[in-house]
Amino acid sequence: MDRKLTVLDLKGRKGARLVMLTAYDAPTARLAVAAGVDVLLVGDSLGMAVLGYDSTVPVTMEDMLHHAKAARRGAPGAFIIADMPFLSFATVERALDNAARFLKEAGADAVKLEGGVEVAPVVEALVRAGIPVMGHLGLTPQTASALGGFKLQARDEDGGRKLLADARALEQAGCWSIVLELVPAPLAKLVTSRAGIPTIGIGAGPDCDGQVLVYHDLVGITAPEFRPKFLKRYAEAGEAMRAAIAQYAAEVRAGRYPDEAHSFGMNADVLRRIESG
Ligand code: KIV
Repeated sequence: MDRKLTVLDLKGRKGARLVMLTAYDAPTARLAVAAGVDVLLVGDSLGMAVLGYDSTVPVTMEDMLHHAKAARRGAPGAFIIADMPFLSFATVERALDNAARFLKEAGADAVKLEGGVEVAPVVEALVRAGIPVMGHLGLTPQTASALGGFKLQARDEDGGRKLLADARALEQAGCWSIVLELVPAPLAKLVTSRAGIPTIGIGAGPDCDGQVLVYHDLVGITAPEFRPKFLKRYAEAGEAMRAAIAQYAAEVRAGRYPDEAHSFGMNADVLRRIESG
């Protein structure tokens, strides 16, 4: 990224296949930018990818701020979106306070929040206050249990119509883009063609305006059995990391690490003088 992107740049790139990736700390944010990612998302997937929870529900504002600040330090010039955690936007007042913290304290450029028509008043208030908002429809992990678990959404006519209506409501409320998670590809294509703002898909097929993946899933450091159909693991970094750690442990136990090449020498006269008291 040569110049820091703005919301207007990104809105103008509808159809341009935007690349978004989650990042929760400085090194991953730095790596993602070096690899040419357009937009970083400090997602509340933090809860599962990093903090060891089995859902995003326990993630707090303090957790999110801590990690958003780290991502910002690793990628000072990147466009960074911070995810509003569960209940942090339950009222307009709470949403304004919390979203403002992301911009003021963590240096985020925008926030993301889950929900459709029901969150439109919150989106309107944030946008009126000058806070760019990304929406999130389809499988919304914070309310996954009410949606029947982590599974494909909007498969029937009612669900499909609701998705279209929710996308319209978010756009009208002022969202500059919308994540579509786990929805059938043809429906995501329809939503994308009807929306005047970019859609960013995850498990939503190839016809969204951009794609997002969770960093840990992409590089293969999540549990090996986590293999949802949409996920392509571009590396098996977890296995490479495990092997490296195992080799370190074996070399320490065998007395092969650290060797001379990885140790610091000392002037022999100085050492002799110390030894002789
Ligand atoms: O929290 C997250 O990482 C997300 C993406 C999966 C879109 O919401």
